[in-house]
Amino acid sequence: LLLLASAAANSMLYPHARQDAFTHVTTKPTTPYSGQKPGTSGLRKKTRDFMQKDYLANFVQSVFNTLVDQKVPVEKGTLVISGDGRYFNKEAIQIIAKIAVAAGVDRLWIGQNGLLSTPAAIGAFILSASHNPGGIDEDFGIKFNGMNGAPAPEQVTNSIFEKTKQISELKMADDLPEIDISKIGKTKYDSPDGKKHLEVEVFDSTEDHVNLLKKCFDFDKIKQFVSRKDFSMCYDALHGVQGPYAKKVFCDTFGLPSSILLNCEPKEDFGGPNSPSHGHADPNLANARELCDRMGVGKDGMPIEGHKGDIPAFGAAADGDADRNMILGSKVFVSPSDSLAIIADNIECIPFFQKSGLKAAARSMPTSRALDLVCESKKIPCFETPTGWKFFGNLMDCEQYQPFLCGEESFGTGSNHIREKDGMWAVLAWLQILASKNPDQALRSKPLVTVEDIVRAHWSKYGRNYYVRYDYEGVELAQAENMMKYMSDMAGKWPADAFNGMEIETADVFKYNDPVDKSVSDNQGIRFIFKNGSRIVFRVSGTGVVGATIRLYLEKYEGPSGNLNAHPLETVKPIAELALKLSKLEEFTGRKAPSVMT
Ligand code: G6P
Ligand code: ZN
Repeated sequence: LLLLASAAANSMLYPHARQDAFTHVTTKPTTPYSGQKPGTSGLRKKTRDFMQKDYLANFVQSVFNTLVDQKVPVEKGTLVISGDGRYFNKEAIQIIAKIAVAAGVDRLWIGQNGLLSTPAAIGAFILSASHNPGGIDEDFGIKFNGMNGAPAPEQVTNSIFEKTKQISELKMADDLPEIDISKIGKTKYDSPDGKKHLEVEVFDSTEDHVNLLKKCFDFDKIKQFVSRKDFSMCYDALHGVQGPYAKKVFCDTFGLPSSILLNCEPKEDFGGPNSPSHGHADPNLANARELCDRMGVGKDGMPIEGHKGDIPAFGAAADGDADRNMILGSKVFVSPSDSLAIIADNIECIPFFQKSGLKAAARSMPTSRALDLVCESKKIPCFETPTGWKFFGNLMDCEQYQPFLCGEESFGTGSNHIREKDGMWAVLAWLQILASKNPDQALRSKPLVTVEDIVRAHWSKYGRNYYVRYDYEGVELAQAENMMKYMSDMAGKWPADAFNGMEIETADVFKYNDPVDKSVSDNQGIRFIFKNGSRIVFRVSGTGVVGATIRLYLEKYEGPSGNLNAHPLETVKPIAELALKLSKLEEFTGRKAPSVMT
């Protein structure tokens, strides 16, 4: 009777309340799995690896063991658990919930249907392998973002890895009932002895993030602009988590028709191998082919000759967890490095930056130096960090650098509005710039200032940093390491005539001294910087799942009065040949050609 009464009182307080036991923390033995080392962006493995007995549980328990060690208050804490909707997402959420509750977390927030984009997640386990394909035979991943929304720093991920090697037991709230993640609402759980309480909230995952973006941009102005008759756009979510956000922003908020949306229903396999992207929810020239074809852009980033049909004025895409972006104009591909520099140069168009102007900017080391030229002219600091968004965190936390802009060649762009790159943010930044270049109703008789106009204006002001990346995928790890070691051993010893007549400025191994916390990250890639502004960079990818991917980044600078209309692939070819000679790549790896050029 007493129990019933308290149940009734409780359900009056909480309309969605339900009473259930969940107190039982079961401790069970487990044995370590090798190789649970988080990479650039969390732990990524084959989905079937994650489906092995306690594989995921071991990792998650190790995260909690680390948090406890680092004195992070877990008890009575709130945790977000969600993902990009790939295969195994839903099962993983239930497992993590049981471990979190056993660790003392008393509030769980879960995006409806388990969906949440990376930029929307704070204090969260994010179940995503980003742009890697999803499905039972493809990839799965898990990353942990701290309370400031930033990816866990290296000290934390290293400690998690150490814990995974020693783990011997799992603690789980085994009697926690399966959480219904399909319905929005709060559920309260109370233990039978009334001593423990748990609240689980399933929320509309688009709402908070869209509200935040409304504070960064002038939505009314963008809405007015996109409703122009001579403007049209197309947005491709590649069946990742961005679909519902895109619908909310472009259709529900800006009033555009749903025909502008491509692949905006989230799918566990991102459309699978027979879709135009082959299930790779990665917004680039190779995978976002459906969008690129519509925009009249070929695989090489050049206009498709003889393309027929109406081409939208603006095109954009996101990756599986919606933190990456690709920007296109009609028959124009905007390289991510250019996109970053162009946003920087036009920063005063964006309300978030209008009050105090841009204070500082940063790019990852392999990203082209187009940004540096803009920062130089604006007389603001421009930082060069290792690859990986986490390296921007310390800088953007510094008040003197806010507002802050940063980005990477790997299709990530963002600001200090959050601590992750943000696919939707970049698209709105471009729309805001377009809106400002096309002001006022009265001027509608003037032709639209296009994405191409903006890009060309940028090049004629600053010159063009031609940029191409060669990827050698699935190389044997030892071969890749030997090649990198050879080049790092050669640093400082290259003969003067090694560089095909170009004058070298720096040839080194990139080492980052974090100016904020003074930490040092060594061995972050090989750089060759030439006096004429060209660059060659080698790195081994940190997001691959099998073997090693060698990335070769090629950059050739052409001043404003030079040829700004050349083919990027042709333009960087001589530098590529030099890079192959310097690295002895073919000798080390047996590879005659890259698997992808982008
Ligand atoms: C993830 C990170 C990015 C990083 C990228 C590099 O997407 O979030 O910050 O730029 O990985 O990937 P790579 O495969 O080159 O290590
Ligand atoms: Zn991603």
